[in-house]
Amino acid sequence: MKCIVQSRLPETGWLGDTPQRDYAGKLRLFNAFARPELREAIDALPMPAGSCVLDAGCGTGEALGWWHASMRGRGMVVGMDLAAAHVEAAHGLASARASIVQGDMLGPPFADGAFDLVWAVNAVNHLGDPIAGVRTLSKLLRQGGRIAVGQSSLVPDMYFAWDARLEARVNEAVRAYYRERYGRSERDFTAVRSLAGWLAGAGLRDVRVHTRMIERTHPLAETDERYLLECIFRGTWGERLRKYLDPQDFEELGWLCDPGDERYALRRPDFHFLQSLTFAVGTRQAATDTRAGDRQAGGKIRRGGNLNRVARSTHLP
Ligand SMILES: C[S@@+](CC[C@H](N)C(=O)[O-])C[C@H]1O[C@@H](n2cnc3c(N)ncnc32)[C@H](O)[C@@H]1O
Repeated sequence: MKCIVQSRLPETGWLGDTPQRDYAGKLRLFNAFARPELREAIDALPMPAGSCVLDAGCGTGEALGWWHASMRGRGMVVGMDLAAAHVEAAHGLASARASIVQGDMLGPPFADGAFDLVWAVNAVNHLGDPIAGVRTLSKLLRQGGRIAVGQSSLVPDMYFAWDARLEARVNEAVRAYYRERYGRSERDFTAVRSLAGWLAGAGLRDVRVHTRMIERTHPLAETDERYLLECIFRGTWGERLRKYLDPQDFEELGWLCDPGDERYALRRPDFHFLQSLTFAVGTRQAATDTRAGDRQAGGKIRRGGNLNRVARSTHLP
């Protein structure tokens, strides 16, 4: 189902996201790579038939199909993203039964209480104030509904089993690059480790965290090699790190990242890669006056099967 539901869209997000920005290619590669661990995380949150799930910051929309499969097609899945190109890509991928809208996590075009679960992977950290983001998204939950915020470790925290000294230099160079590119402090970037704190700070209860390891060894599947080569070696490292590394380290990194070189890391028999994927799950507090909460949800959930159930009526075309 193709829906155009407009909400107020911000011009530039904390990590440079805009409605016009497009990194759909990277998102597709990441989702193909981390698919086993992401699907496992989805299946670990079983939802009863008829549930409504929102994927906030859905990117290219892979998780929408995984949620459908996990609910065996007996629920409703809605994707929302800021970037027009990502929304378009998600339309191309998602089943006809998923609804995808362009919208802002900080001003979502949905009724309070409309969803049973909000799922947001690598998305809340794109907001300048993640706690405000979690609080806003939590309002979309019915009483007792849950929010699952997922975060993979950022590039400087990944682990590659090669020379640990070089790895430390490369990680520091990536940090320096990000500090300069986004004008953020070191503290800002390490704040993504505070998932549980974000949920607690936003007033959720029963906050639980669970970390899975995305672990890959030789020989790599094609999806793994493509992600590591395209997104990390070329898209994140490459030429942009030259100015932050001493020439010998930069040259050594170049050999490790070059598929044409015999020292190419992704063909090494001892290749070993680790990246963490943490989920914090919390439950929306029951309101003191639950009848008021029910009225606020407006009876828009659990009946019918389309976006009208969840959208704020004022935003529908
Ligand atoms: C790193 S990507 C993650 C996408 C997807 N969840 C995934 O795991 O592949 C972050 C996504 O959040 C979106 N985004 C950033 N700021 C947003 C905002 N304020 N509201 C909605 N989406 C936003 C971006 O456009 C991007 O698609």
